[in-house]
Order: sequence, then C-alpha cells, then structure tokens
Amino acid sequence: MAASLLIEDVDAAYGAVRALDGVSLRVDSGETVALLGTNGNGKTTLMRCILGLLKPTRGRISVTIDGVTTDLVGRSPEDIVNLGIAIVPEGRRLFPRLSVEENLLLGAYRRAARPSIPRHLEFCYEAFPRLKERRSQAVGSMSGGEQQMVALGRAVMCAPKILLVDEPSVGLAPILVARTIEKIAELKEKLGLTVLMAEQNFHQAIRIADRGYVLVHGHVEFQGDSPAALGDSELVRKFYLGL
Ligand SMILES: Nc1ncnc2c1ncn2[C@@H]1O[C@H](COP(=O)(O)OP(=O)(O)O)[C@@H](O)[C@H]1O
Ligand SMILES: [Mg+2]
Repeated sequence: MAASLLIEDVDAAYGAVRALDGVSLRVDSGETVALLGTNGNGKTTLMRCILGLLKPTRGRISVTIDGVTTDLVGRSPEDIVNLGIAIVPEGRRLFPRLSVEENLLLGAYRRAARPSIPRHLEFCYEAFPRLKERRSQAVGSMSGGEQQMVALGRAVMCAPKILLVDEPSVGLAPILVARTIEKIAELKEKLGLTVLMAEQNFHQAIRIADRGYVLVHGHVEFQGDSPAALGDSELVRKFYLGL
C-alpha cells in the first residue's frame, strides 16, 4: 500500500486575506513530514485545502494511492476522506458529551471503513489501553492528553492511508506532548501511514519527522531534508530555538 501527497504552487485566501502563497511540498509514501511554523503562518489553512474545506485560488493538490493519482482541488471533503485521508484537527474537535467509544465510532463514517469497524476499534483499544478502560466515559470529562488520544483513535477508525495531524501539542503539558508524538509514530509504523504533521513545537516534531518545511507568512521559507538540516537552519534557530 503506497500513498503520497503532492502540493504544487498553492495559493489560498480568506477574502482579501492571503493565507498561502505558492506553497509546494510533498510527502512521499511512508514518510512523516513536519509542517513547521509559528501561529498564523498558514499551517491549518494548508490542511483545510488538502481536505477540500477551503478551495485554493491557484495550484494543484494531488494524492497517489496504490499507483492511482487523484486531483483533490474541487472535490468535496467527503470524497477526499473516502480516498483514505484523515485528519486529527487542531483543538481536537471531539464531542464532549459523547462517550469515548461513540467518538471513536464517529470516525468510521467513511464507507470503506465500515466493514473494518470491529478490527479498528480493537486496534484503537490495543494502542490506547486507557481508552478501553474509559470507553463509556464522556470525553469532556477526560484530561487533555486522553482527549488527544481519542482524537488520534478517531482518525484511525476511518482506516486512512494518509494522516494529517494539526498541532497535536496544543494545550498539552510537556510530558503529554512527548507521549502524543510517540503515539503518532507508533500508529504510523503499525498502520503503514504517510503523515503530514503541523507543529509549532520544533523539538517534539523533529523527534519523529523524516523531513520538514517551515512556513512563514504562508510561504515555504525553508525545506530541511533531515531533522539535522532543520535544526541547522538559520530561520529555525532564530524563530524557534532563540539562538
Ligand atoms: N477563517 C478565517 N478568516 C480570515 N482569516 C483567516 C481565517 N483563518 C485563518 N485566517 C488567517 O490566515 C492566516 C493563516 O492562518 P492559519 O492557517 O490558521 O495559521 P496556523 O495554522 O499556522 O496558525 C492568518 O493570518 C490567519 O489570521
Ligand atoms: Mg493552526
């Protein structure tokens, strides 16, 4: 199973506000790519463009899954999810009054994912034993770290090939950030996923990323072909590491 994502020269705007400016990047099959950038630089906007929630004003977004290339621009979010693309959204967007299991099951609405519901639920509970213990608990009464696990589990319930993760570290204590990042790497390995992860937390992101891009004002300002190359970049040192 091979799945890759290609973004070519994408512009996007909210009315008169230009949010993406000629963004090009790729995520090859089986890679974990970090999309780095501080607040307001366009990370979420790019995720929204990939998922069909915002239409780029220019450029091309395509995925190649098992040798078949599909253009995403102009397709509905439902079609895009059905191709095998899932997101763990910024702020998690869970249903606080519903139980853990109900939230997980809501991730399996993708048609192709329905037959595998029991298998994926089992897999989720194996990856997150704590969620199994808490399967009947209302999500709103759980800790931030546990809620992030529910959000990750929900994304996996739709049996994706490409996983988008938007700022998993937001709102979590440092120890939970580290655990969440490790879980993403574990899920990726077990499920053979291709991952694009937006993060502001440079140190945590490069623990699991193969490569990365730095977005500044909606533009890719730097591309690092390894975590070391990212750490050596002047831009990263200045903006993220305070050096
Ligand atoms: N719904 C919106 N309406 C208008 N401007 C928006 C909207 N969402 C984001 N923006 C603007 O687009 C830019 C990029 O935002 P965003 O993609 O959310 O950045 P990030 O995810 O990197 O924090 C920012 O200048 C932000 O203010
Ligand atoms: Mg964002």
